[in-house]
Amino acid sequence: MKKVVSPVQSLNGSIKVPGDKSISHRAVMFGAIANGKTTIEGFLPGADCLSTISCFRKLGVQIERSGDEVTVYGNGWEGLKEPDEILDVGNSGTTTRLMLGVLGTRPFHSVVIGDESIGKRPMARVTDPLKAMGAKIDGRGEGNYTPLAVRGGETKGITYESPVASAQVKSAILLAGLQSKGLTSVTEPFKSRDHTERMLTAFGVELKEDNTTVSVRGLQTLKAQHVLVPGDISSAAFFLVAGAIVKNSSITLTNVGMNETRTGIIDVLNRMGAHLQINNSKVVNEEKIADLTISTSKLSSIEIGGEIIPRLIDEIPVIAVLATQANGTTVIKDAEELKVKETNRIDTVVSQLKKLGANIEATEDGMMIHGPTKLTGGKVSSFGDHRIGMAMAIAGSVASEEVEISDVEAIDVSYPNFFDHLSELI
Ligand code: S3P
Repeated sequence: MKKVVSPVQSLNGSIKVPGDKSISHRAVMFGAIANGKTTIEGFLPGADCLSTISCFRKLGVQIERSGDEVTVYGNGWEGLKEPDEILDVGNSGTTTRLMLGVLGTRPFHSVVIGDESIGKRPMARVTDPLKAMGAKIDGRGEGNYTPLAVRGGETKGITYESPVASAQVKSAILLAGLQSKGLTSVTEPFKSRDHTERMLTAFGVELKEDNTTVSVRGLQTLKAQHVLVPGDISSAAFFLVAGAIVKNSSITLTNVGMNETRTGIIDVLNRMGAHLQINNSKVVNEEKIADLTISTSKLSSIEIGGEIIPRLIDEIPVIAVLATQANGTTVIKDAEELKVKETNRIDTVVSQLKKLGANIEATEDGMMIHGPTKLTGGKVSSFGDHRIGMAMAIAGSVASEEVEISDVEAIDVSYPNFFDHLSELI
């Protein structure tokens, strides 16, 4: 499906940001392995999180959904049954990797498959440590690519040093660790998002955190909870950037999750000189939330690298759009992980923004953007990557002519009402 975005005069108004994708996935999965009835409010009904619901239903868990309210009837670890059907994760890396952590310890056979993009994403970062714990997993490239066949069983704890700062890797190993004998601990080079640690604690699990190491003792059970999902800062990011770069704009985003492992975009906006206000800060379910107001800003370039990268990894496509409107050269480095996201986001961001006249170049571990540039119209593609599609729509709103974006249906993965929200602000 194609969508044409026309240049806008201004963007004004208030938007309630849809539920956080990472937290929605975890609420369903933890509810499924907990004992009792877990209720979820503010669930993101995006395609990725619906894949998690569908997979856990195939594993025998009763899950009801009405809009953004979900009820999960967990029967503990033993409630998971050998699925009759293949578990299809669609486009969702989080479903794949976290679910592998669960399946790796269950005494049955299952097959995990996903779409074309999932088939290219590296899974050995999860299957290797799970195999070291005793899980049997096979697939193309010695268990690196889907389809993956899993036969779980008796597993033992592991002390694992992850070469990448990845919440999916950390979470998969911790989930397996919960079902394994002994202690499991994961250390990562920089701290990745910690929603798993926070939500497991809320579900009654004891875990220990020390700097970038998290440890759990095995054979723990989870108690059902009520989970209130905050808005997704990664979705808010598109409108934060739009508010800063479209002239005569002021946008308020309510209900935004402000977990410090996710707020790299806020730091970037502040460092670039954006007019950003944070109001009504509070804590719900161990997670900080706030309302954010952004208005048209004069921006300066910055360098982005090191420990901040995992705190804004999903926001880099739209940060690149932001940088095209900033004065000077913005350098994004230490971001090789972009190459193994839904697309190779170094390639897709650079090639598509170039089509709109941006002065941008790819580097080995990121990109350099020279600004400010008046973006032009043109034809671009999302390449089936939701965040590329939305970044292009924001670029289109400051371009001089229309921007035609193909494959926009990919946006349903994380923000099904994205274009409705954009229209409401015009
Ligand atoms: C996620 C972790 C990140 C992020 C992804 C969601 C999660 O991936 O990019 O969109 O929910 O744990 P990595 O763990 O691969 O960095």
